[in-house]
Amino acid sequence: MFYFFDELSSTIDEARDDKYRHGDVVVAEHQTAGRGQRGRVWHSPAGENLMFSVVLDTGFLRSNEQFLLLQAVALGLVDVFVLYGLDARVKWTNDIYIGDRKVVGVLIDHTLGANGMLARSGVGIGINVNQRVFDSALPNPTSMAVELGREVDRGEVLRRACECVMRRVEQLREGDFQREYHSRIYRLDELAEYELANGERFRGTIRGVRPGGGLVVELQDGTVREFLFREVSFVI
Ligand code: BTN
Repeated sequence: MFYFFDELSSTIDEARDDKYRHGDVVVAEHQTAGRGQRGRVWHSPAGENLMFSVVLDTGFLRSNEQFLLLQAVALGLVDVFVLYGLDARVKWTNDIYIGDRKVVGVLIDHTLGANGMLARSGVGIGINVNQRVFDSALPNPTSMAVELGREVDRGEVLRRACECVMRRVEQLREGDFQREYHSRIYRLDELAEYELANGERFRGTIRGVRPGGGLVVELQDGTVREFLFREVSFVI
């Protein structure tokens, strides 16, 4: 069921309410305290884009399997862009890119259950749909409208995104989509530049992402390193 709000602090906060059930979707036209990754703020002009959280029962996943859920969500979002003829990639860890530009950000809020399992997760998704003018402080944004050269029906994108994400989450229970995920990794097998947390830059080639979430990069001397979340960022 969809729950539409003109304004919320964040759909992530609202989706924590126990009244929402598995598969429910909380949508806001405007967020006063939208949250992004790494403690950042997520701004999105009212009426142009999509900001929503999908509520999921995730009691079948161990708390150390959170990355699997992120993979399922990311693949589901890539599926949506395929429907629009757009070649989207998963930029490790939480972004969807078209070319070298970000079109979706994802932030997942988990509630832990007993015995090291998850209980429930609120999957916060921000899709740039019809925005054409962006804050110059944003490094490399794009939108579906920019990529397609036409306005897109937000209601249709919302419905398709929820269907695609739910389908991939169902697949998590029985299927294995590691190969498919692998084929959709942004910059896979391309030599490119990266930056360590201390600011040091290096060139390397992404060779894959481990199911636990580590980014596997081959360095130019042939050695292979696995980077964990926040240890490395992309230079774009
Ligand atoms: C990122 O930094 O890339 C993640 C952005 C996630 C934004 C979405 S918009 C809907 C949901 N509510 C929030 O406050 N954040 C997420």
